[in-house]
Amino acid sequence: LGWVSLMVLEEKVFKDPIHGYIRVRDELIWALIQTPEFQRLRRIKQLGGTQVVYPTAEHSRFSHSLGVYEITRRIIGTLDPRAEMMSVDTRILLLAAALLHDLGHGPFSHSFESVLDVNHEDFTVRIILEDTEINRLLETYQAGLAKEVADVILKRHENLMVINLISSQLDADRLDYLLRDAYFTGTPYGEIDLDRILRTIRVHDKLIVYKESGMHVIEDYLLSRYQMFWQVYAHDCSRSFNFIIQSLLMRVRDLISSGHKFKCDVVLFERLFEGDIDVSIKTYLRFDDGVITTFAASFAEEDDAILRDLADRFLNRRLFKEFDFSGSEMSEKFLKWVAIGLTDLGYDPKYYIFRDEQQRTLYDYYRYDEDSKKEPINLLMRSGKIREISEVSDVIRGIVNIAKEKKTVFLPLDFMKKCHDDESFLNMLGDFIV
Ligand code: NI
Repeated sequence: LGWVSLMVLEEKVFKDPIHGYIRVRDELIWALIQTPEFQRLRRIKQLGGTQVVYPTAEHSRFSHSLGVYEITRRIIGTLDPRAEMMSVDTRILLLAAALLHDLGHGPFSHSFESVLDVNHEDFTVRIILEDTEINRLLETYQAGLAKEVADVILKRHENLMVINLISSQLDADRLDYLLRDAYFTGTPYGEIDLDRILRTIRVHDKLIVYKESGMHVIEDYLLSRYQMFWQVYAHDCSRSFNFIIQSLLMRVRDLISSGHKFKCDVVLFERLFEGDIDVSIKTYLRFDDGVITTFAASFAEEDDAILRDLADRFLNRRLFKEFDFSGSEMSEKFLKWVAIGLTDLGYDPKYYIFRDEQQRTLYDYYRYDEDSKKEPINLLMRSGKIREISEVSDVIRGIVNIAKEKKTVFLPLDFMKKCHDDESFLNMLGDFIV
C-alpha cells in the first residue's frame, strides 16, 4: 500500500466562489477527499436548518471543509518555510487536520447531537481513529498520523501553532465559514479582507501572531463574527426549526423505546438510539440530511399524531413562535402555566415547549483559559513586542466586555394566538415580563 506518495503529478483544482480555486497537490489530501466518509459531507448542509430563513443557504460541509483546507494551504505558503515547525510533516498534518476537522457532523448537527447527547468532535475523532478508509489512508502515509490529526482536533497536540491555525479566535475554520456563510445567505455581514489577514500572519515564539498593520482588518473580522452570530446563526426561525427537528427525533426515540409499531422500517433509528453514545461509526455515517428528510416524509403518514405533526412541521416549515424574554426572569411558575395551557390544547409539553438562552461577547479574550488552549489574538508590534489586540485597538477595547444575551421560549403558534385573545394571558404576562 505504498502508493500514497508525497505529491500528485498534476495539480487538481476545485472551482469555488469564495477562494476562486482550491488547489490540491498532495496525493494524500486528494485520496482523503475521495473516501466515502469525506464524500458524505456533500450531503450535509453547513448551516443545517438556516435555509428556512435564508433560502440560498444550501452549501455543504464538503465545500466548507475544502475551504478550510485551502485557507490553511495559503497560510502555510505565506509563513517562513525555514521555520522549524513548518517541516514537511507539520505541513501535511495541518492540511489533513484542516480538511477533516468537520468529518463527524451529523445531519442538522445541533439538533441531532442534542438528542443523541453526543458531540460531533467525538465522532470526527472516532472516524479518524477507528476502522475507516480515512484511518487507513493516514496510517498508510505515516504510522501514527491518524492519532496526530486527532490530537490537533482535540486541541491536545504539542504543537500549539498547529492548533492555533485550525482552532482559535482567528483560525482557518472561522475565516472560511464567515465568508462562505455570508456569501450563501446573501448577507453583507461577513465580508472581510481575507488576503490582507493572511498577509499579516507571522510565527513568533512558536505561536501565531498578526502584524500590527493587520489590526483594522482583524477588528472588521471580529465585528463580522458578532453580526453573523445574531443575524444568521442565532436567528429565531432557524432556532425554531432546529427545535422541531429535535422534537421529531425525540419522538422517534420515545416511540421506539415504548415498542411502537411503525408502518415504515425504522431499523436505522433503532441502531442509532440503541447505541446512543456508543453508536457504531457505520450506523452514524449512514445519517445525512437526505436520510432525515426521507424519513420525515414517511413519518408524516404514521399513526402517531405527535410524530405526524412534527414531521409535517419539518416538511412544511410550520415553525414554533418565539417569545422573547431577554432581560426578564423566565420563572418555573410561568413555564408550568404554559405547560398546562399546552396540554389543554392537546399538545404534549415535552415536545412543544423549548427554552433557549444564548449569550455572545464580541471577543472572548477574558474567557481564555488553559484548557481550551484558545489563545488571545496577539499583534506583533513594529517594536518587535507582542501585545494582545484589545490593549492596542480602541474598537476592540470598547466592546470586549459587552455580552449580549437573549432568552427565548418557543411555542406552537396556535397556543400563542389563543393566549393573545385571552385577557388573562396578557395579565399573566404582565406579571412575568419586566
Ligand atoms: Ni468547520
